[in-house]
Amino acid sequence: MWEIHAENQFRRVAAPCQDTDSSCESFSCQMRFFGSMSECKQMELRGINYCLIESMDGCSIRLFQNVGVEPSGDGLFLICLDELILRFIRNLNGLILKIGSFEMSKKILVATEKPFAKAAVDRMKEVVAKNPDFELKLLENYTDKQDLVDAVKEADGLIIRSDKVTREVLDAAKNLKVVARGGAGYDNVDLEAATEKGICVMNTPGQNSNAVSELVFGMMLNLVRHQYVGKPGTELRGKSIGIHAYGNAGKCVARLGKGFGMDVYSHDPYVDKSIMEADSVTPVDSKEELYSTCDFVSLHIPGNAETVNSINFELLSKMKEGAALINTARKEVIDEGGLKKMLSERPDFRYGSDLTPDCKDEICTTCGDRTFFTAKKMGAQTAEANINSGVAAVTQVINFLEKGDETFRVNKKV
Ligand SMILES: NC(=O)c1ccc[n+]([C@@H]2O[C@H](COP(=O)([O-])OP(=O)(O)OC[C@H]3O[C@@H](n4cnc5c(N)ncnc54)[C@H](O)[C@@H]3O)[C@@H](O)[C@H]2O)c1
Repeated sequence: MWEIHAENQFRRVAAPCQDTDSSCESFSCQMRFFGSMSECKQMELRGINYCLIESMDGCSIRLFQNVGVEPSGDGLFLICLDELILRFIRNLNGLILKIGSFEMSKKILVATEKPFAKAAVDRMKEVVAKNPDFELKLLENYTDKQDLVDAVKEADGLIIRSDKVTREVLDAAKNLKVVARGGAGYDNVDLEAATEKGICVMNTPGQNSNAVSELVFGMMLNLVRHQYVGKPGTELRGKSIGIHAYGNAGKCVARLGKGFGMDVYSHDPYVDKSIMEADSVTPVDSKEELYSTCDFVSLHIPGNAETVNSINFELLSKMKEGAALINTARKEVIDEGGLKKMLSERPDFRYGSDLTPDCKDEICTTCGDRTFFTAKKMGAQTAEANINSGVAAVTQVINFLEKGDETFRVNKKV
């Protein structure tokens, strides 16, 4: 073991930094390491930016980035310019420290073909900067899968959006322990391969639910007002809305529906009725009953073997005169043949979707203002949802790597 003394030579060199923590100011400091040069070389201190310093009371302080080491007499001066380190060091006056072992900080890679918004990335950086055990790497706007394969090699944690995390990517990621998908769906991650490799996969449920539910009402208003082309329309107040699946998005739709003065119903076989009742939502036993009862149905089911093509003509044909279906869930849950038939046989039926069907052009030419499609998937495309899911993803990755917190795990554990 090798002792160093924090020499309390803090010298202010710059104006206070833009940190809400009032104790944080920009300082430079020097810490004198007492030990022989040979020991230092052996420990490879010179030239490296990472080392672990352990105080006598057992609390660890990891130094990272902007650490320079200069030889001086029989010891070394460690020159730190990093405010985070200095915040720690300022609290160490008089403490004798010993160097325990060297350890690199853990790397969190944010790999996004379609990046998070800059504001979201800035907030993610702030979260990481508060924790010196971690560093954030960005791979944004990549176009070649090989770029992801190369970048993931060093990563302990991986944050993605709709990026495909295949077995090949996971094979390359020798240090990887956790993947967080910023968003609700996670069918872009090979869960089986991740489970085999002992990698935890998480999503960030609920972070974009408000954005999605506001879009639901935007589309409903568009349809009842005939896309604002000049024709008189109808109102939402006093109408009924059926929420197909009472998860995170469904719950937000219920809240907004009541704000619009609508009667709110929901069908979700996996949610206890008492949860809906507590929200003043009327539970409905079957999807058939939901579709035949409500003026509007808003889809919030996941895409899986049970739900694919489950919204078919047989179900749609039960909808009330003038009813509308809103889909912000998944493209594949709609049986497009059934949807086309419904639109052609029921000129009163309206459809709004955030997911572009293969038959969109055909539908649009025949149905006029009875249908509405977003230009691309827009449900989660708000600044707030982007920030929420990015911050949640990075926080979850840190909590997992630090404390083993698996709260939002979606794959099996072996
Ligand atoms: N348009 C977008 O940009 C966007 C954004 C977020 C989520 N989504 C999609 O919206 C859907 C809902 O998202 P969420 O965040 O509310 O998910 P969630 O996981 O919070 O909720 C899903 C709900 O579906 C219920 N469910 C599962 N199978 C069902 C079935 N067969 N019948 C009825 N209910 C069933 C579950 O019990 C759960 O309550 C997902 O498909 C998600 O991929 C789309």
